[in-house]
Amino acid sequence: MSERVKPVRVTDLKKKKRRGERITMLTAYDATMAGLLDRAGIDLLLVGDSLGMVVEGHDSTIPVTLEAMIHHTQAVSRGTKRALVVGDMPFMTYHTGVEDAVRNAGRLIQEGGAGAVKIEGGRAVLDVAARLTDVGIPVMGHLGLTPQSILRLGGFRPQARTPEDADHLIAEAQTLEAAGVFALVLESIPAEVAATVSRELTIPTIGIGAGPYCDGQVLVSYDAFGMFDKFVPSFVKQYAQLGEQIVSATREYINDVREGRFPAHEHTVSASVRRSRRD
Ligand code: KIV
Repeated sequence: MSERVKPVRVTDLKKKKRRGERITMLTAYDATMAGLLDRAGIDLLLVGDSLGMVVEGHDSTIPVTLEAMIHHTQAVSRGTKRALVVGDMPFMTYHTGVEDAVRNAGRLIQEGGAGAVKIEGGRAVLDVAARLTDVGIPVMGHLGLTPQSILRLGGFRPQARTPEDADHLIAEAQTLEAAGVFALVLESIPAEVAATVSRELTIPTIGIGAGPYCDGQVLVSYDAFGMFDKFVPSFVKQYAQLGEQIVSATREYINDVREGRFPAHEHTVSASVRRSRRD
């Protein structure tokens, strides 16, 4: 009999915060990876628009389309049994009006199978956060370094480093909570600022480059597993070197094929099996 799994729900996360249990989140973009991370017991899988950089090869997340996000969210949802799947809303899919945002978020939920969506920004997206929550779509916020704003921020730079900027971020976090977001990603901000936000809010904070005092942590899986080598942010811990392993496995495969070692006898389909497959 297959084991029954209890899926992670949005409401479980606040309970975890109250109990002092740290929340874990990683990005995933396909069913196979999602299945592996889910099997390991991850709480949340973020189909991040970081896929624009680590999967599609762009220099930023700005070119990512809603269609691409739906496609990858569908794959991740198919591969996931327990984790809560969060679909990132790409640039310009929630900035042109609240009704556009509802329609686009609705597609990530209905077509993509996500259990929640994530939007970047503070005051500029409050009405969107409130309306999505009102219509039943759980919203995760994202403050600090918000990659969809790199043109304005001047690159991937740490944020909230002056007292004024820190106060501004803390105030925005409070207004997002009041608008109904169920959790808040804090990216690339000083640990003390993240600690204050985590203390002030009742919803969980999930940090990336925001120190150890957040209620949970998230990493881009391609960074965490050593698969993306264009640059590695200083806040990343690499838990594996899969990129190097893939390169050396590929070299071994190339050599085996060239030297005639692969396929060997055991990898060869016999005539009777071939016939039975066709029948
Ligand atoms: O797109 C993404 O992967 C993200 C994480 C860095 C939080 O937004």
